[in-house]
Amino acid sequence: MLGLQELIAKKRKSERISMITAYDYYTAKMGEQSGIDIILVGDSLGMVVKGDNNTLGVSVDEIVYHTKGARKGAPGTFIISDLPFMSFHLNVEQTKSNAARLVVEGGANAVKLEGGSPARLEMIKGIADCEIPVVGHLGLTPQSVYKLGGYRVQAKEQEAADSLLKQAKEIEKAGAFMIVLEAVPEKVARQVTEELGIITIGIGAGRFTDGQVLVFHDMFGLSDFQPKFVKCYENLSEIIRENLREYIKDVKDKRFPEKKHIYYPLTDTE
Ligand code: KIV
Repeated sequence: MLGLQELIAKKRKSERISMITAYDYYTAKMGEQSGIDIILVGDSLGMVVKGDNNTLGVSVDEIVYHTKGARKGAPGTFIISDLPFMSFHLNVEQTKSNAARLVVEGGANAVKLEGGSPARLEMIKGIADCEIPVVGHLGLTPQSVYKLGGYRVQAKEQEAADSLLKQAKEIEKAGAFMIVLEAVPEKVARQVTEELGIITIGIGAGRFTDGQVLVFHDMFGLSDFQPKFVKCYENLSEIIRENLREYIKDVKDKRFPEKKHIYYPLTDTE
């Protein structure tokens, strides 16, 4: 498993870091078998697994449950788990205890939380004080969807870009070792990457971040919505639908099961 030091060394050597989301045993296993650097058990599972319209309804119990599965599938991969909405907002004690659950019960190596306000910085400090590696997340922070007025590109204006850079620096100072930048102009992500010592991971943030993350379901055509920044490597949903239609026909036409699928099949004369 790549540890914190190896990941940081990658930034120093300008070696790009690859990250995908995974929420279950087998997806995580495929990630590990393929050599992915980091798995993120993101609260995006609210949308792509649970079918919600946003990520707000995801609970700590759910992240623990999905992290456990991912950990079993990828015992040798660095796993980051999301602190979901309202699990790091009340006070530092609540935040520390939820972060510890993701690590101790779920098996995560690090936790991620959205935002860079002074209140969030306190939480980052608190978690880092518990020796739990912390990841920040700025730009389009989906847990703020109602405040942001939708899923939109952030930090387009100079003032917003300056404020994002300032928050990113504060997140670094608070003790985070990595920061996710979502849906921001390439120029902004490049400046953050150049001016911060910690790792930057982009999603819809252009080419210059230290690494990239994509949502697994988006990469394989298994989600309802495809943002501009997604590269769809294969439209598996179409392939699966075709195969399901074939199965339905096989059952209807009595072509399945065949003899090879049957335990102690009757002989033709019975
Ligand atoms: O929840 C998630 O999948 C995320 C990524 C989009 C970075 O936070």
